[in-house]
Amino acid sequence: MNVSEAIRTRHSVRKYQPGVTIPREHIRQMLEAAMHAPSAVNSRPWEFVVVENPALRQQISAAHPYCRSLPDASLAIVVCGLPDAWPDAPPGGMWPQDCAAATENILLEATGLGYGTCWCGVYPHRERAEAIARLIGVTSVPVSLIIVGKAAEVPKTRGFYDESRVRYLR
Ligand SMILES: Cc1cc2nc3c(=O)[nH]c(=O)nc-3n(C[C@H](O)[C@H](O)[C@H](O)COP(=O)(O)O)c2cc1C
Repeated sequence: MNVSEAIRTRHSVRKYQPGVTIPREHIRQMLEAAMHAPSAVNSRPWEFVVVENPALRQQISAAHPYCRSLPDASLAIVVCGLPDAWPDAPPGGMWPQDCAAATENILLEATGLGYGTCWCGVYPHRERAEAIARLIGVTSVPVSLIIVGKAAEVPKTRGFYDESRVRYLR
């Protein structure tokens, strides 16, 4: 699958086939894709936690109101931001954008590998971020949680091209 196909066939999947194990090399491929993302001043302000443990997936699902399908899926990749990675950053930093770029790369790589995904937002919901950080044992800031697994549904395409959102300055 080329990049253009991956972009256009990716959907948020909210129903997964239970009991599917994702091979290590596929997980590694998704993490490599994440770390190939661009980041401000190449600060790479991220770390990644792969959650396969079923009990922990249940607990995370209880702590986040919109990731109910996590227990049935294969795993979650939690993209965590390191706000201090670029000490001279402008106020607020650019680490959330950097983590978003890494997140999208994971979604696209997973699509190419034949997996369904769902990006679940964490930061800046403070209580969600703190609860998930505690559960996965990090001091960094969980920015997004990506559910990954074999899809048990084919969601309708929600993306579309909207010419009214575009201006050409020539
Ligand atoms: C920052 C962000 C946070 C999101 N959070 C959630 C979430 O918590 N739970 C969920 O099911 N989907 C979440 N989504 C997925 C969106 O609902 C989805 O991308 C949107 O409806 C478009 O559908 P599509 O992904 O199938 O194109 C999130 C997406 C983004 C980019």
